[in-house]
Amino acid sequence: MKRLRVAVIGVGHLGKEHARILAGLPDVDLVGVADANPEQAQAVARRHDTQAFNEYWPLLNLVDAASIVVPTSHHLAVAREFLRRGIHLLVEKPLACTTAEAGELVELAARHGAILQVGHIERFNPAYEDLRTRCFEPKMIRAQRMGPFTGRSTDVGVVLDLMIHDIDLILGLVQASVRSVEAVGMSCFGGHEDVAMARLLFVNGCVAEMTASRASPTASRLMQIWGPEGHAEIDFATRKLTLVQPSAAVRRNGLDSARLDPASRSRIREELFTRHLEMLTIDGKAQDQLTCELEEFVTCVRTGRSPRVTGQDGLAAIHVAEQILGSLREHAWSGSKGPLDLPPPGGLLFPHRVEQDVA
Ligand SMILES: NC(=O)c1ccc[n+]([C@@H]2O[C@H](COP(=O)([O-])OP(=O)(O)OC[C@H]3O[C@@H](n4cnc5c(N)ncnc54)[C@H](O)[C@@H]3O)[C@@H](O)[C@H]2O)c1
Repeated sequence: MKRLRVAVIGVGHLGKEHARILAGLPDVDLVGVADANPEQAQAVARRHDTQAFNEYWPLLNLVDAASIVVPTSHHLAVAREFLRRGIHLLVEKPLACTTAEAGELVELAARHGAILQVGHIERFNPAYEDLRTRCFEPKMIRAQRMGPFTGRSTDVGVVLDLMIHDIDLILGLVQASVRSVEAVGMSCFGGHEDVAMARLLFVNGCVAEMTASRASPTASRLMQIWGPEGHAEIDFATRKLTLVQPSAAVRRNGLDSARLDPASRSRIREELFTRHLEMLTIDGKAQDQLTCELEEFVTCVRTGRSPRVTGQDGLAAIHVAEQILGSLREHAWSGSKGPLDLPPPGGLLFPHRVEQDVA
Protein backbone atom coordinates (compact mmCIF):
# COMPACT_ATOMS: atom_id res chain seq x y z
CA MET A 1 0.00 0.00 0.00
CA LYS A 2 1.28 3.49 -0.88
CA ARG A 3 2.30 5.31 2.28
CA LEU A 4 0.28 8.41 3.11
CA ARG A 5 2.30 11.57 3.76
CA VAL A 6 0.70 13.69 6.49
CA ALA A 7 1.45 16.78 8.61
CA VAL A 8 -0.04 18.42 11.68
CA ILE A 9 -0.33 22.20 11.71
CA GLY A 10 -0.52 23.54 15.26
CA VAL A 11 0.89 21.15 17.85
CA GLY A 12 -0.34 22.75 21.07
CA HIS A 13 -2.62 21.07 23.62
CA LEU A 14 -4.57 18.98 21.08
CA GLY A 15 -2.34 19.05 17.99
CA LYS A 16 0.47 17.20 19.78
CA GLU A 17 -2.00 14.32 20.30
CA HIS A 18 -2.89 14.34 16.57
CA ALA A 19 0.86 14.09 15.83
CA ARG A 20 1.36 11.22 18.31
CA ILE A 21 -1.52 9.19 16.88
CA LEU A 22 -0.76 9.86 13.20
CA ALA A 23 2.91 8.94 13.76
CA GLY A 24 1.78 5.52 15.01
CA LEU A 25 -0.76 4.63 12.28
CA PRO A 26 0.21 1.91 9.79
CA ASP A 27 1.36 3.04 6.33
CA VAL A 28 1.30 6.71 7.39
CA ASP A 29 4.38 8.96 7.39
CA LEU A 30 4.27 12.00 9.64
CA VAL A 31 6.37 14.17 7.30
CA GLY A 32 6.45 17.16 9.63
CA VAL A 33 4.74 19.31 12.24
CA ALA A 34 4.39 23.09 12.10
CA ASP A 35 3.79 25.48 14.96
CA ALA A 36 4.17 29.25 15.29
CA ASN A 37 5.97 28.50 18.56
CA PRO A 38 9.36 27.07 17.42
CA GLU A 39 10.14 25.31 20.74
CA GLN A 40 6.78 23.57 20.64
CA ALA A 41 7.31 22.45 17.04
CA GLN A 42 10.83 21.18 17.88
CA ALA A 43 9.74 19.30 20.99
CA VAL A 44 6.89 17.48 19.22
CA ALA A 45 9.00 16.77 16.09
CA ARG A 46 11.80 15.29 18.23
CA ARG A 47 9.34 13.02 20.04
CA HIS A 48 8.13 11.52 16.74
CA ASP A 49 11.34 11.64 14.77
CA THR A 50 10.01 14.07 12.18
CA GLN A 51 10.76 17.57 10.85
CA ALA A 52 9.77 20.78 12.67
CA PHE A 53 8.54 23.89 10.83
CA ASN A 54 7.63 27.32 12.18
CA GLU A 55 5.15 27.92 9.37
CA TYR A 56 2.79 25.68 7.44
CA TRP A 57 3.66 26.68 3.88
CA PRO A 58 6.84 24.57 3.35
CA LEU A 59 4.62 21.51 4.00
CA LEU A 60 2.24 22.36 1.15
CA ASN A 61 4.49 20.54 -1.35
CA LEU A 62 5.33 17.62 0.92
CA VAL A 63 2.02 16.05 2.01
CA ASP A 64 -1.12 14.28 0.76
CA ALA A 65 -3.15 15.13 3.87
CA ALA A 66 -2.99 17.26 7.03
CA SER A 67 -4.61 17.91 10.40
CA ILE A 68 -5.27 21.57 11.14
CA VAL A 69 -5.15 22.14 14.89
CA VAL A 70 -4.36 25.86 15.14
CA PRO A 71 -6.69 28.22 17.08
CA THR A 72 -10.09 28.55 15.40
CA SER A 73 -9.47 32.13 14.26
CA HIS A 74 -6.60 30.77 12.08
CA HIS A 75 -8.48 27.82 10.55
CA LEU A 76 -9.57 29.64 7.39
CA ALA A 77 -6.19 31.16 6.52
CA VAL A 78 -4.32 27.88 7.01
CA ALA A 79 -6.90 25.38 5.68
CA ARG A 80 -7.61 27.38 2.53
CA GLU A 81 -4.00 27.04 1.29
CA PHE A 82 -4.05 23.24 1.66
CA LEU A 83 -7.47 22.83 0.05
CA ARG A 84 -6.47 25.00 -2.92
CA ARG A 85 -3.82 22.36 -3.66
CA GLY A 86 -6.28 19.47 -3.26
CA ILE A 87 -4.68 18.35 0.03
CA HIS A 88 -7.15 16.37 2.18
CA LEU A 89 -7.86 17.93 5.57
CA LEU A 90 -9.07 17.15 9.03
CA VAL A 91 -9.88 20.57 10.51
CA GLU A 92 -10.50 20.69 14.24
CA LYS A 93 -13.88 21.87 15.47
CA PRO A 94 -15.36 24.40 14.95
CA LEU A 95 -14.61 24.38 11.21
CA ALA A 96 -14.24 28.19 11.23
CA CYS A 97 -15.46 31.30 13.04
CA THR A 98 -18.37 32.17 10.73
CA THR A 99 -20.70 30.62 8.17
CA ALA A 100 -18.99 32.62 5.41
CA GLU A 101 -15.56 31.24 6.35
CA ALA A 102 -16.81 27.66 6.72
CA GLY A 103 -18.70 27.95 3.42
CA GLU A 104 -15.49 29.01 1.67
CA LEU A 105 -13.67 25.91 2.98
CA VAL A 106 -16.49 23.57 1.95
CA GLU A 107 -16.56 25.13 -1.52
CA LEU A 108 -12.76 24.87 -1.91
CA ALA A 109 -12.77 21.20 -0.87
CA ALA A 110 -15.50 20.39 -3.41
CA ARG A 111 -13.77 22.35 -6.20
CA HIS A 112 -10.39 20.69 -5.64
CA GLY A 113 -11.65 17.17 -4.88
CA ALA A 114 -10.28 17.13 -1.32
CA ILE A 115 -11.74 15.27 1.66
CA LEU A 116 -12.76 17.75 4.35
CA GLN A 117 -13.46 16.20 7.75
CA VAL A 118 -14.31 18.25 10.86
CA GLY A 119 -13.06 17.27 14.31
CA HIS A 120 -16.43 16.85 16.04
CA ILE A 121 -14.97 14.13 18.20
CA GLU A 122 -18.10 13.35 20.23
CA ARG A 123 -19.57 11.69 17.12
CA PHE A 124 -17.08 8.91 17.93
CA ASN A 125 -18.31 8.57 21.52
CA PRO A 126 -19.57 4.96 21.78
CA ALA A 127 -22.67 6.01 23.78
CA TYR A 128 -23.73 8.39 20.98
CA GLU A 129 -22.78 5.85 18.29
CA ASP A 130 -24.99 3.26 20.02
CA LEU A 131 -27.97 5.62 20.29
CA ARG A 132 -27.72 6.45 16.57
CA THR A 133 -28.28 2.78 15.71
CA ARG A 134 -31.64 2.69 17.54
CA CYS A 135 -35.07 3.61 16.26
CA PHE A 136 -35.70 6.85 18.13
CA GLU A 137 -37.31 10.11 17.11
CA PRO A 138 -36.23 12.84 19.55
CA LYS A 139 -38.84 15.42 20.49
CA MET A 140 -37.24 17.09 23.52
CA ILE A 141 -33.50 17.36 24.14
CA ARG A 142 -31.53 18.87 26.99
CA ALA A 143 -27.73 19.12 26.76
CA GLN A 144 -25.25 20.39 29.29
CA ARG A 145 -21.53 20.82 28.71
CA MET A 146 -19.53 22.49 31.47
CA GLY A 147 -15.99 22.71 32.74
CA PRO A 148 -13.47 24.94 34.45
CA PHE A 149 -11.70 27.74 32.53
CA THR A 150 -8.60 26.37 30.75
CA GLY A 151 -7.27 29.65 29.34
CA ARG A 152 -7.33 28.10 25.84
CA SER A 153 -9.69 28.84 22.91
CA THR A 154 -10.18 32.43 24.11
CA ASP A 155 -10.26 33.56 20.46
CA VAL A 156 -13.87 32.34 20.47
CA GLY A 157 -16.63 32.20 23.09
CA VAL A 158 -18.18 29.17 24.74
CA VAL A 159 -20.73 28.74 21.94
CA LEU A 160 -18.05 28.01 19.32
CA ASP A 161 -15.76 26.36 21.86
CA LEU A 162 -18.07 23.92 23.74
CA MET A 163 -21.71 24.31 22.69
CA ILE A 164 -20.73 23.57 19.09
CA HIS A 165 -20.27 19.88 20.11
CA ASP A 166 -23.90 19.63 21.24
CA ILE A 167 -25.19 21.63 18.25
CA ASP A 168 -23.53 19.12 15.92
CA LEU A 169 -24.73 16.09 17.93
CA ILE A 170 -28.30 17.41 18.08
CA LEU A 171 -28.39 18.21 14.35
CA GLY A 172 -27.25 14.62 13.77
CA LEU A 173 -30.08 13.26 15.93
CA VAL A 174 -32.97 15.49 14.86
CA GLN A 175 -32.48 15.49 11.07
CA ALA A 176 -34.71 18.56 10.59
CA SER A 177 -33.96 22.23 10.08
CA VAL A 178 -34.08 24.82 12.83
CA ARG A 179 -37.10 27.11 12.82
CA SER A 180 -36.15 29.54 15.61
CA VAL A 181 -33.39 30.24 18.10
CA GLU A 182 -33.37 32.01 21.47
CA ALA A 183 -30.22 32.48 23.50
CA VAL A 184 -28.67 34.33 26.41
CA GLY A 185 -25.09 34.44 27.67
CA MET A 186 -22.64 36.08 30.03
CA SER A 187 -18.98 36.99 29.85
CA CYS A 188 -16.91 36.17 32.95
CA PHE A 189 -13.33 36.59 31.67
CA GLY A 190 -13.85 39.53 29.30
CA GLY A 191 -14.61 39.61 25.59
CA HIS A 192 -16.63 36.59 24.48
CA GLU A 193 -19.44 34.79 26.31
CA ASP A 194 -18.23 32.16 28.80
CA VAL A 195 -21.67 30.89 29.86
CA ALA A 196 -24.54 30.47 27.42
CA MET A 197 -28.00 28.94 27.16
CA ALA A 198 -29.82 28.36 23.89
CA ARG A 199 -33.17 26.97 22.85
CA LEU A 200 -33.71 25.60 19.36
CA LEU A 201 -37.12 24.91 17.87
CA PHE A 202 -37.01 22.54 14.88
CA VAL A 203 -39.54 22.46 12.02
CA ASN A 204 -40.63 18.95 13.12
CA GLY A 205 -41.60 20.29 16.56
CA CYS A 206 -38.55 19.04 18.44
CA VAL A 207 -37.18 21.46 21.06
CA ALA A 208 -33.53 21.36 22.18
CA GLU A 209 -32.12 23.30 25.11
CA MET A 210 -28.37 23.59 25.55
CA THR A 211 -26.28 25.03 28.37
CA ALA A 212 -22.54 25.52 28.06
CA SER A 213 -20.09 26.99 30.54
CA ARG A 214 -16.33 27.27 30.76
CA ALA A 215 -16.59 28.90 34.17
CA SER A 216 -17.87 25.90 36.10
CA PRO A 217 -16.05 24.37 39.10
CA THR A 218 -17.05 20.87 37.96
CA ALA A 219 -16.99 19.19 34.56
CA SER A 220 -20.04 17.55 33.00
CA ARG A 221 -21.10 16.49 29.50
CA LEU A 222 -24.66 15.21 29.56
CA MET A 223 -27.55 14.88 27.13
CA GLN A 224 -31.12 13.79 27.81
CA ILE A 225 -33.48 12.95 24.99
CA TRP A 226 -37.21 12.22 25.09
CA GLY A 227 -39.34 10.84 22.27
CA PRO A 228 -42.40 8.63 21.71
CA GLU A 229 -40.16 5.54 21.97
CA GLY A 230 -38.85 6.50 25.42
CA HIS A 231 -36.03 8.37 27.08
CA ALA A 232 -32.25 8.27 26.61
CA GLU A 233 -29.50 9.79 28.67
CA ILE A 234 -25.89 10.01 27.53
CA ASP A 235 -23.00 10.75 29.83
CA PHE A 236 -20.28 11.64 27.35
CA ALA A 237 -17.58 11.63 30.03
CA THR A 238 -18.25 8.05 31.20
CA ARG A 239 -19.54 6.88 27.76
CA LYS A 240 -22.67 5.55 29.46
CA LEU A 241 -26.02 5.32 27.68
CA THR A 242 -29.19 4.81 29.74
CA LEU A 243 -32.39 3.90 27.91
CA VAL A 244 -35.92 3.83 29.32
CA GLN A 245 -38.92 2.56 27.36
CA PRO A 246 -42.57 1.70 28.16
CA SER A 247 -43.20 -2.01 28.87
CA ALA A 248 -45.11 -4.03 26.28
CA ALA A 249 -48.31 -3.70 28.36
CA VAL A 250 -47.94 0.07 28.68
CA ARG A 251 -47.30 0.31 24.94
CA ARG A 252 -50.51 -1.65 24.32
CA ASN A 253 -52.78 -0.12 26.94
CA GLY A 254 -51.10 3.08 28.11
CA LEU A 255 -50.73 3.95 31.78
CA ASP A 256 -53.37 6.34 33.07
CA SER A 257 -52.72 6.75 36.80
CA ALA A 258 -56.14 8.40 37.27
CA ARG A 259 -57.88 5.14 36.22
CA LEU A 260 -55.89 2.84 38.51
CA ASP A 261 -57.46 1.51 41.70
CA PRO A 262 -56.00 3.08 44.88
CA ALA A 263 -53.88 0.01 45.70
CA SER A 264 -52.24 -0.11 42.24
CA ARG A 265 -51.75 3.67 42.29
CA SER A 266 -49.95 3.52 45.63
CA ARG A 267 -47.58 0.83 44.20
CA ILE A 268 -46.75 2.87 41.10
CA ARG A 269 -43.76 4.51 42.68
CA GLU A 270 -42.09 1.15 43.54
CA GLU A 271 -43.15 -0.55 40.32
CA LEU A 272 -42.53 2.24 37.84
CA PHE A 273 -39.11 1.03 36.71
CA THR A 274 -39.79 -2.70 37.15
CA ARG A 275 -43.29 -3.19 35.77
CA HIS A 276 -44.31 -0.17 33.71
CA LEU A 277 -41.04 1.12 32.31
CA GLU A 278 -38.01 -0.95 31.27
CA MET A 279 -34.51 0.38 31.81
CA LEU A 280 -31.28 -0.61 30.06
CA THR A 281 -27.83 0.76 30.84
CA ILE A 282 -25.00 0.32 28.35
CA ASP A 283 -21.40 1.05 29.28
CA GLY A 284 -19.64 2.14 26.09
CA LYS A 285 -16.39 0.38 25.32
CA ALA A 286 -13.27 2.27 26.32
CA GLN A 287 -12.04 3.56 22.99
CA ASP A 288 -9.80 6.48 22.19
CA GLN A 289 -12.08 8.76 20.21
CA LEU A 290 -9.27 10.79 18.68
CA THR A 291 -7.64 7.62 17.35
CA CYS A 292 -10.98 6.52 15.83
CA GLU A 293 -11.42 9.95 14.26
CA LEU A 294 -7.93 9.99 12.73
CA GLU A 295 -8.20 6.37 11.53
CA GLU A 296 -11.45 7.32 9.81
CA PHE A 297 -9.74 10.32 8.20
CA VAL A 298 -6.93 8.16 6.82
CA THR A 299 -9.44 5.56 5.53
CA CYS A 300 -11.52 8.26 3.80
CA VAL A 301 -8.42 9.73 2.15
CA ARG A 302 -7.35 6.28 0.94
CA THR A 303 -10.79 5.20 -0.31
CA GLY A 304 -12.43 8.50 -1.26
CA ARG A 305 -15.29 7.64 1.11
CA SER A 306 -17.20 10.55 2.69
CA PRO A 307 -16.26 11.06 6.36
CA ARG A 308 -18.73 10.68 9.23
CA VAL A 309 -18.42 14.43 9.91
CA THR A 310 -18.21 16.29 6.61
CA GLY A 311 -17.40 19.92 5.90
CA GLN A 312 -21.14 20.40 5.29
CA ASP A 313 -21.84 19.12 8.83
CA GLY A 314 -19.27 21.53 10.23
CA LEU A 315 -20.87 24.36 8.25
CA ALA A 316 -24.38 23.45 9.45
CA ALA A 317 -23.24 23.54 13.09
CA ILE A 318 -21.65 26.96 12.61
CA HIS A 319 -24.78 28.27 10.92
CA VAL A 320 -26.79 27.41 14.06
CA ALA A 321 -24.02 28.73 16.34
CA GLU A 322 -24.12 32.02 14.46
CA GLN A 323 -27.87 32.31 15.02
CA ILE A 324 -27.31 31.58 18.72
CA LEU A 325 -24.63 34.28 18.92
CA GLY A 326 -26.92 36.75 17.14
CA SER A 327 -29.77 36.09 19.58
CA LEU A 328 -27.40 36.22 22.55
CA ARG A 329 -26.06 39.65 21.52
CA GLU A 330 -29.56 41.07 21.02
CA HIS A 331 -30.79 39.85 24.39
CA ALA A 332 -31.04 42.58 27.01
CA TRP A 333 -31.27 42.62 30.78
CA SER A 334 -32.18 45.69 32.83
CA GLY A 335 -33.21 47.92 29.96
CA SER A 336 -30.43 48.54 27.47
CA LYS A 337 -27.68 46.49 29.19
CA GLY A 338 -26.78 43.42 27.14
CA PRO A 339 -25.80 40.23 28.95
CA LEU A 340 -22.21 40.38 27.68
CA ASP A 341 -21.88 43.65 29.59
CA LEU A 342 -23.05 42.68 33.05
CA PRO A 343 -24.65 45.30 35.30
CA PRO A 344 -22.83 45.81 38.64
CA PRO A 345 -23.76 43.15 41.23
CA GLY A 346 -26.63 44.18 43.49
CA GLY A 347 -25.48 42.39 46.64
CA LEU A 348 -23.51 39.48 48.09
CA LEU A 349 -24.70 35.85 47.92
CA PHE A 350 -22.54 35.20 51.00
CA PRO A 351 -19.75 37.14 52.83
CA HIS A 352 -16.45 37.48 50.89
CA ARG A 353 -13.82 34.81 51.61
CA VAL A 354 -10.96 36.27 49.57
CA GLU A 355 -9.96 39.92 49.98
CA GLN A 356 -6.70 40.42 48.05
CA ASP A 357 -6.74 41.93 44.53
CA VAL A 358 -5.75 39.77 41.55
CA ALA A 359 -2.31 40.85 40.23
N1 LIG B 1 -12.32 18.31 19.34
C1 LIG B 1 -12.16 18.76 20.56
O1 LIG B 1 -12.76 18.28 21.52
C2 LIG B 1 -11.18 19.87 20.78
C3 LIG B 1 -10.54 20.03 22.03
C4 LIG B 1 -9.61 21.05 22.18
C5 LIG B 1 -9.35 21.91 21.12
N2 LIG B 1 -9.99 21.76 19.93
C6 LIG B 1 -9.72 22.67 18.81
O2 LIG B 1 -8.37 22.53 18.39
C7 LIG B 1 -7.83 23.78 18.00
C8 LIG B 1 -6.57 24.06 18.82
O3 LIG B 1 -6.88 24.07 20.18
P1 LIG B 1 -5.77 23.82 21.31
O4 LIG B 1 -6.50 23.71 22.60
O5 LIG B 1 -4.84 22.72 20.92
O6 LIG B 1 -5.00 25.21 21.26
P2 LIG B 1 -3.50 25.54 21.71
O7 LIG B 1 -3.44 27.01 21.88
O8 LIG B 1 -3.06 24.66 22.82
O9 LIG B 1 -2.64 25.13 20.40
C9 LIG B 1 -2.68 25.83 19.22
C10 LIG B 1 -1.25 25.82 18.64
O10 LIG B 1 -1.29 26.40 17.34
C11 LIG B 1 -0.13 27.24 17.17
N3 LIG B 1 -0.44 28.21 16.12
C12 LIG B 1 -1.20 29.32 16.19
N4 LIG B 1 -1.32 29.88 14.98
C13 LIG B 1 -0.58 29.11 14.12
C14 LIG B 1 -0.33 29.18 12.73
N5 LIG B 1 -0.86 30.13 11.97
N6 LIG B 1 0.49 28.23 12.20
C15 LIG B 1 1.02 27.24 12.96
N7 LIG B 1 0.79 27.15 14.28
C16 LIG B 1 -0.01 28.06 14.85
C17 LIG B 1 0.11 27.82 18.55
O11 LIG B 1 1.46 28.22 18.71
C18 LIG B 1 -0.27 26.64 19.47
O12 LIG B 1 0.86 25.83 19.80
C19 LIG B 1 -8.96 24.80 18.19
O13 LIG B 1 -9.65 24.98 16.99
C20 LIG B 1 -9.89 24.12 19.20
O14 LIG B 1 -11.25 24.52 19.08
C21 LIG B 1 -10.88 20.75 19.74
